[in-house]
Amino acid sequence: MASYDVIIIGAGPGGYVSAIRCAQLGLKTAVVEGRETLGGTCLNIGCIPSKAMLHATHMLHEAEHNFASMGLKGKSPSVDWKQMLAYKDDVVGQNTGGIEFLFKKNKIDWLKGWATIPEAGKVKVGDEVHEAKNIVIASGSEPASIPGVEIDEKTIVSSTGALELGKVPKKLVVIGAGVIGLELGSVYARLGSEVTVVEYMDAITPGMDADVQRTFKRILEKQGLSFIMGAAVQSAKPGKGKATVTYKTKKSDTEETLDADIVLVATGRKPFVEGLGLDKLGVEMTKRGQIATDEHWATNVKGLYAIGDVIEGPMLAHKAEDEGMAVAEVLAGKHGHVNYGVIPGVVYTTPEVATVGKTEAQLKEEGVKTKVGKFMFMGNARAKAVHQGEGFVKIITDAATDRILGAAIIGPAAGDMIHELCVAMEFGASAEDIALTCHAHPTYSEAVREAALACGDGAIHA
Ligand code: NAI
Repeated sequence: MASYDVIIIGAGPGGYVSAIRCAQLGLKTAVVEGRETLGGTCLNIGCIPSKAMLHATHMLHEAEHNFASMGLKGKSPSVDWKQMLAYKDDVVGQNTGGIEFLFKKNKIDWLKGWATIPEAGKVKVGDEVHEAKNIVIASGSEPASIPGVEIDEKTIVSSTGALELGKVPKKLVVIGAGVIGLELGSVYARLGSEVTVVEYMDAITPGMDADVQRTFKRILEKQGLSFIMGAAVQSAKPGKGKATVTYKTKKSDTEETLDADIVLVATGRKPFVEGLGLDKLGVEMTKRGQIATDEHWATNVKGLYAIGDVIEGPMLAHKAEDEGMAVAEVLAGKHGHVNYGVIPGVVYTTPEVATVGKTEAQLKEEGVKTKVGKFMFMGNARAKAVHQGEGFVKIITDAATDRILGAAIIGPAAGDMIHELCVAMEFGASAEDIALTCHAHPTYSEAVREAALACGDGAIHA
């Protein structure tokens, strides 16, 4: 039996970042992880491998569609599927190995196995029970299916199976037009699959700015994805070499059928708390099956904390990381803080989509008078030079004070550019502050400045 200041359960972005910060703050730290490699869902079977696949297939798309016009002639590359998966696995391996190195550097113990919490202050891994002054649950989430749809990871797959398919499917049906459905749908559309996305709501990426939703859908349709909107999937059944998906639209009571080689279920995720023994411990849960915590990430059990996908809030790696660092500060007797109003959300398609803060619709509902500055990438020379003149930057300000309340970008490198606006919002900046900041020419970021100018006397290149 070993004794620790902190034992963290789960080595995903929430858990491993929290462990490093705990160690940096002088706490004796261990992390329990049952997977063969560190990094959790994000590094092993989520964010990172999907980005490798998005990059590889974007290159293919460029070769097929844009090379010739730039004077790059010749045969387009053909797809060696096995090699593409090997490239993805190599990217994952480099990153998981990197965390192992950081654990050693920071003297963090990796307790290999799956954890149970038999009582407050104790963590059982295999046959061994370890003591901890504090325990942080960072066990993440798992795919949530819908009634009538059973994931077998062969024909009916979650994102995990979709990153390990034996071959590129001819027909792919995606259930859910959320982030996972659109990122992986894009990957397979670029590889030549016929991709049909079935979505229950009337707009894709529910909750996002309506302007972005419309433009994004139009661009994806141009890239070959088809959408069936306002349609609730009733079932997905694997058959001999083919799967069948049934759905009902809001407009009709008749059940419609779709055939597919592979069905990707991307209907959301749920907290992964199985086997932790939370029931027996009497841990309070929310109505949505999340661990209930206070503003310091403490549960109702003394010395037990929870962060990331197992608690409320967006299921995003960077939200978990921020909570991981903040809870470490709390455990070290310092002040931990997360600004939940400034957490960016990014969809890594081409173009990328990135948002932060509130949408126009949300602010209208709150009765806030707003001003909107919008600038189209068509007016940005750099974007046009790389065939990415679609999309826009939109900044929403308080009409009375010019303070930035929200922003959305659909365009090249949107996921990186959004941070200019995040920092501005953290500092309580006005659109004028951005408009008065010199931006290098020619860069995509000039579009952010132009949108800020549009909140005032007007953009220059519009
Ligand atoms: P999601 O919650 O983003 O989208 C699920 C979609 O499925 C919704 O649009 C919903 O209306 C639809 N749906 C639900 N039931 C349906 C039915 N019966 N028929 C048709 N449509 C139905 O969930 P997703 O895409 O699975 O992602 C899970 C989580 O992982 C999210 O919280 C997401 O933020 C996170 N994630 C984030 C990424 C990023 O930041 N780039 C990448 C991948 C995942």
